[in-house]
Amino acid sequence: MTEPIPGPPGLPIIGNVNDIDPIDSIKSLNRLADIYGPIFKLHLGGTDRLYISSQALLNEVCDEKRFTKIVAGALNEIRNGVQDGLFTAHPGEHNWEVAHRVLMPAFGPLSIRNMFDEMHDIASQLVVKWARFGPKEKIDVTGDFTRLTLDSIALCAMDLRFNSFYHEEMHPFVNAMTGFLQESGARANRPHFLNYFMRSTQQKYDSDIALLKQVAIEAVAERKAHPSKKNDLLNAMLNGRDPKTGEGLTDESILNNMITFLIAGHETTSGMLSFLFYQLLKNPSTYQKAQKQVDEVVGRGPVTIEHMSKLPYIEACLRETLRLTPTAPVFSMQPRPDTTEDPITIGGGKYEIAKGQPIMALLSKVHKDPLVYGEDAEEFRPERMLDEPFSKLPPNAWKPFGNGMRGCIGRPFAWQESTLTVALLLQNFNFRFDDPSYVLGIKQTLTIKPKDFYMHATLRDHID
Ligand code: HEM
Repeated sequence: MTEPIPGPPGLPIIGNVNDIDPIDSIKSLNRLADIYGPIFKLHLGGTDRLYISSQALLNEVCDEKRFTKIVAGALNEIRNGVQDGLFTAHPGEHNWEVAHRVLMPAFGPLSIRNMFDEMHDIASQLVVKWARFGPKEKIDVTGDFTRLTLDSIALCAMDLRFNSFYHEEMHPFVNAMTGFLQESGARANRPHFLNYFMRSTQQKYDSDIALLKQVAIEAVAERKAHPSKKNDLLNAMLNGRDPKTGEGLTDESILNNMITFLIAGHETTSGMLSFLFYQLLKNPSTYQKAQKQVDEVVGRGPVTIEHMSKLPYIEACLRETLRLTPTAPVFSMQPRPDTTEDPITIGGGKYEIAKGQPIMALLSKVHKDPLVYGEDAEEFRPERMLDEPFSKLPPNAWKPFGNGMRGCIGRPFAWQESTLTVALLLQNFNFRFDDPSYVLGIKQTLTIKPKDFYMHATLRDHID
């Protein structure tokens, strides 16, 4: 006998829209998980969605023989801008298969290693900016990390210099992207017919999408006009051939994936770096250990590619940051469309679910499952994420990069970029909160970042 899946009662037509704070939906979902337990149901945007928040349930759902990604909710709305790009393609879509096979080598270890110098170039711009600021100037942490990660992906992936550190305002791409993601999220939670009555919102949405496309079109045109031999993602997309079918990416698929990389390739990493610095300032002994490791391994000399694999404590800090604040806080699965299970169940047979049923993994909760992480699950303790304890975690207890075939293709890029940046910053500066009583707030689009988080940077004594 199966049991009904709990959840708050909804209203006719609008469903559970009032149960979700549109500004901070993750907070609302966490609260609902506290009330209804590790699985609950909401009716949003015209469909029922399940939310799971324990390692045991996520482990079941990560079995790719039974479940696969679903492009639902906000992700489905993002298709309005990037159609079947890698991130938003439905399972089995042909363009995803071609792009995946063509682009996997471009994200392989050697390719990412080759991007080190360009990542270093951009990270050094950040160091110079903060050094010139001096200790009194207030640093907009997420703003500057967003400049860093956007410039880094644009330069490494398509040889495009956004020069964000040299402008007061963010590149127009960032504002268009933020608007596009925010509105995609909002559309996912309101009944579709309402969109027809929101003319100015729709116009803004369309013009944001047009700007994103324009940036991609210009970058492709520039490369076609001035071909280069660079081993970057753009050349992989323009010249690469699918080893299975011999096909190349269509022009449309190239544009969709360029925008996808610019979006997926910077927001999440910028959020991770920002949360990490918040945690280091909040936990001084951890901060000291991290800085000590940089001093011992790198010393005063240049940070090099060889250092990247020699900073295990920094790596543990990054993992622990993504555990507590997974910057892509939800990913969505469904029973495989070709399943022969009848009935389809979840929870070891306890709950019956429908074909096509979206199951959202609420990572902020799964990552604090007390059965896995213990009573101090809420605390920032990187020691639990050092290689050995990390490798002994139960399966699928830490999933900030998503699952299986549809997991993050850019993970090695994000890791190298972040390790390098953290090493450079800790080597060169001492940091302190602007407001020591700062309480962490969250700014959410599709990803999460700290809200109104400011700090100060003082050049360290050993810097001449
Ligand atoms: C997919 C997280 C950095 C490109 C994903 C997914 C997650 C994720 C959770 C799966 C989404 C889903 O199942 O719907 C992160 C985090 C990052 C990061 C936490 C940094 C800390 C990057 C970077 C790039 C990138 C730097 C590009 C350079 C992508 C792409 C996909 C993806 C293209 C779709 C892959 C596919 O389905 O084929 N990422 N990501 N990500 N990510 Fe990342």
